Amino acid sequence: MSDKVIEAKDLVRIYRSSTGLLRKKKKETLAVNKVSFSVDRGELFGVLGPNGAGKTTTIKMLTTLLTPTKGSATVMGFDVVKDPVEVRKRIGLILGGERGLYYRVTGRQNLKYFADLYGVSLQTRDRRIQEVLDMVGLADKADSKVEDYSRGMKQKLHIAKGIVHDPEVLFMDEPTIGLDPQASRETRKLTQSLIDHGKTILLTTHYMFEADELCRRIAVINNGRIVAMDTPHGLKGFVKDTAVIEVEGFGIDDSVMNKVRGLEGVRTVSATMNESKQVMRVQVCDAGEMLSPVTRVLDCKVLDVRVKEPTLEDAYLWLVEGHA
Ligand SMILES: Nc1ncnc2c1ncn2[C@@H]1O[C@H](COP(=O)(O)OP(=O)(O)OP(=O)(O)O)[C@@H](O)[C@H]1O
Ligand SMILES: [Mg+2]
Repeated sequence: MSDKVIEAKDLVRIYRSSTGLLRKKKKETLAVNKVSFSVDRGELFGVLGPNGAGKTTTIKMLTTLLTPTKGSATVMGFDVVKDPVEVRKRIGLILGGERGLYYRVTGRQNLKYFADLYGVSLQTRDRRIQEVLDMVGLADKADSKVEDYSRGMKQKLHIAKGIVHDPEVLFMDEPTIGLDPQASRETRKLTQSLIDHGKTILLTTHYMFEADELCRRIAVINNGRIVAMDTPHGLKGFVKDTAVIEVEGFGIDDSVMNKVRGLEGVRTVSATMNESKQVMRVQVCDAGEMLSPVTRVLDCKVLDVRVKEPTLEDAYLWLVEGHA
């Protein structure tokens, strides 16, 4: 068999829905627009993109939950439309969020149900369930009802459910969403150990450091299209001759950011919260030249200004802001 475990060829998905009075208006959303890529055996492949980019839709087509409007895809050589049963036998799907679990019963009972559904043999089932409970760190809560779980525990159970039948190929859609830093780190370790055991994984995440740490290759998707596909190192090449001016302070709002954005020599501007402070990242071509014009337009409380090397996040921002 070919070493291409996942192959997507010109995948297109259009959602059609009715809106308006009497639902007469027909609305079409082109969610995925001619997406092509392949994932090698044993590879951890990342799909990054902003909200609504088409990541989950792509995963749903590859895992037989949605039919492609056009194009085709195979998983381990089986066509997702013609051979969905063969595909499903070989894959595990881990979706972020709260759905897809039975709340009235315990975690262990959920896993029993899914193990039976996925055809795990009765002789090995209970041992395998204990093994995955240990792997995800849920063993001590295994016999509590899922309705009493915290969000992070539900996410761990999602992961356990996705691997209980020991699938060859795993699709992980934001697996660390809602997890605390320690649980996220454990999940990344678990993901890496699945790769070390020869599994093939397609992962989406909004955490750039996570993608940088785990993925061998990354596709950046925006408005349903792949705008770049490379190793994390290769993607950083898009910003290699730039620097980042990091401003820490209070009162960094849209007007401050727009002023900075308007300066010549500024490439991208983004802001995040860091504990109670705000951190604005300004990507520039020449930090030496831009430091003074940037600080001059800041009408907010500034605690610190630093110059940093660009990261994968800066390359990502550059790409999804339409520069690819
Ligand atoms: N069931 C649906 N009906 C109609 N439109 C949909 C449906 N599901 C998704 N969409 C639309 O398709 C586009 C892609 O959505 P998708 O969920 O694939 O994005 P995503 O990249 O997974 O985003 P996020 O990072 O927020 O999870 C969006 O414009 C979304 O509004
Ligand atoms: Mg999604």
